[in-house]
Amino acid sequence: MNKHPVTVWPSGKVVEVSENESLYTQLKEAGFGIKSKCGGCASCGDCILVIKSGDENLNEPSFEEKQLLGNVFHLTKERLSCQTKVSGAITVDISMHADAPAKKAKAVRRSREEADKVLEDRRAEGVEKRKNKVHKLGGGKKPKAFSFHDEEEK
Ligand code: FES
Repeated sequence: MNKHPVTVWPSGKVVEVSENESLYTQLKEAGFGIKSKCGGCASCGDCILVIKSGDENLNEPSFEEKQLLGNVFHLTKERLSCQTKVSGAITVDISMHADAPAKKAKAVRRSREEADKVLEDRRAEGVEKRKNKVHKLGGGKKPKAFSFHDEEEK
């Protein structure tokens, strides 16, 4: 099984990949974050990467890939990484995927902070309401004053 070097931009790291598996699978195994909704089935179109050099060392685009991206590789230099197999040295740019996990984590953190703030506000509001509430015992009725004279007269 032959291995071929893939230089991954923007980090500049070099990964050795085999001819038999897709670039998507091997880059994921190497720890690179590649967006995908379909998990490599050529239906979402999220796993796009840009081929910087070595496009002669790639397989021909599949029918599904051409349907998603069109037949304009010679202009865009974009391929679906889940449909791409490598047979020589190439350089790819995955900068469009690099910030995806960080953005997602930031969005999750922000929504948690907002939820915490709302909860804190509600708690503070509840404490204020409780402080201002007048507690009426006995259903709010004023008890009658007790006197011995009332009973003696009867
Ligand atoms: S992973 Fe969905 S199209 Fe490649």
